[in-house]
Amino acid sequence: MVRLRPVRLRDGAQWSRIRVADRAHLEPWEPATGMDWDVRHAVTAWPTVYSGLRAEARKGRMLPYVIELDGQFCGQLTIGNVTHGALRSAWIGYWVASSVTGGGVATAALALGVDHCFGPVSLHRVEATVRPENAASRAVLAKVGFREEGLLRRYLDVDGAWRDHLLVAITVEEIDGSAVSTLVRRGRAAWA
Ligand code: ACO
Repeated sequence: MVRLRPVRLRDGAQWSRIRVADRAHLEPWEPATGMDWDVRHAVTAWPTVYSGLRAEARKGRMLPYVIELDGQFCGQLTIGNVTHGALRSAWIGYWVASSVTGGGVATAALALGVDHCFGPVSLHRVEATVRPENAASRAVLAKVGFREEGLLRRYLDVDGAWRDHLLVAITVEEIDGSAVSTLVRRGRAAWA
């Protein structure tokens, strides 16, 4: 069962263990910070990361979630730059541990995140950016119904260079019922 829940201070050990072990799986797709990977993901780094996420969440700008598979921490899904008013938009991003890839976890988590955005958060649009080379993430976004809107040239500093990213988005009008129920109808997920 895939579930989203808020990040916790006690997630540090699992977060660090997975992020350090999965460097090769994660680093090609994530924004650079200028910090050494192992230092940035040491268990002692988590309280600062956690506080930063919670501070943004308290301001209403970010919704930082842990992805759980059968009750175990297996990744993160973050909704950021939450904007209300006439825009009612946010971006969404995610990662999952290499040990659980290929089983539909990210797709289910993304659908849950999208439904949260269009439901309780009352957004109108959710967007994401993804490197064209990231075939797995592009497949995840497509399965949940994100459309490609264009190519952002030299958009983000990732893995040692300014990388082009595809901008993809979905608006509430494009959802038929809910993103999760659409996955279930298409046989890509089942209700727990
Ligand atoms: N080429 C084409 N398709 C691929 C490839 C590939 N090399 N590798 C995997 N896929 C497909 C799978 O077949 C599957 O599609 P299917 O269900 O139609 O068969 C799909 O990609 C993966 O779907 P899930 O199983 O739901 O995804 P998973 O749980 O494996 O997680 C993810 C995918 C999140 C991209 C994971 O590999 C990961 O964490 N990667 C590193 C970090 C990352 O790239 N994060 C996303 C950054 S972009 C963003 O956040 C918007």
